[in-house]
Amino acid sequence: MEELITLDKVCLTYHTKESETPVLSDISFTVGKGELMGLVGPSGCGKTTILSLISGIIKPTTGSVFTAGQPPEKCDISGYMLQKDELLPWRTNMGNILLGAEIKKLDKQKIREKAMRLLEKYDLAGVEKHYPSQLSGGMRQRVALIRTLVLAPQIILLDEPFSALDFQTRLQVVGDVYNMLREEGMTAVFVTHDINEAISMCDRVAVLSSKPCRIKKIVSVEALNALPPSKRRLKSEFLELYDEILTTMQSDTE
Ligand SMILES: Nc1ncnc2c1ncn2[C@@H]1O[C@H](COP(=O)(O)OP(=O)(O)OP(=O)(O)O)[C@@H](O)[C@H]1O
Ligand SMILES: [Mg+2]
Repeated sequence: MEELITLDKVCLTYHTKESETPVLSDISFTVGKGELMGLVGPSGCGKTTILSLISGIIKPTTGSVFTAGQPPEKCDISGYMLQKDELLPWRTNMGNILLGAEIKKLDKQKIREKAMRLLEKYDLAGVEKHYPSQLSGGMRQRVALIRTLVLAPQIILLDEPFSALDFQTRLQVVGDVYNMLREEGMTAVFVTHDINEAISMCDRVAVLSSKPCRIKKIVSVEALNALPPSKRRLKSEFLELYDEILTTMQSDTE
């Protein structure tokens, strides 16, 4: 499998006037093209920092990060999906979807056509004229993902994108977003606090420790890879994986 993301012995230290805080220590992993990689770990351990490194917003103190074989700040191939959908209330949904294209000065007509195709495909036909406030939380998240997809990123970075949604909506949106990522052949890194969600969506899950953040274990979800989230939850392997990840999170050994 072609490697799209590579982190090699990455360390990151935040410096303030008074102190140095090591946040990441010796983080190495790769993500293949089309693969969904999960990151789970305690609050404040460094998950968002890892996404920032992959997107090129920050650079490692030592070690290296590559996306499609290049330093990420040089190739700009990732798109973000965040906890809050960040849709602008005064713009229509289409206006929101076209925002990135406007900023990047891309051909708006082409992007609009692509957006219409995606809205139709993902059960949102007609919402382009409406405003975000007229949509449910789950629909807003799908519009937010389409806004990212129209820019044709090769990598999608998801930072707890479902944590603001109620439980039932969340189950639905996990399934919808999984389908969208798979159908569009996206490579993704998915940060979550929720072990269930990680096993439902991902091909592999990296379990992280904190202070500093290290990789304790990378758990393969291969046994369930062919299934969508709603079917995975019904399998006995699901519970075994849940137990493996939870035990790893709780263990002191690295
Ligand atoms: N700009 C910064 N300067 C100094 N320290 C920072 C900075 N940004 C983050 N940190 C620290 O780095 C650590 C990791 O932060 P990060 O946001 O990556 O954690 P996280 O795993 O995403 O947390 P959460 O689960 O709460 O979202 C935290 O201890 C945080 O306080
Ligand atoms: Mg975070």
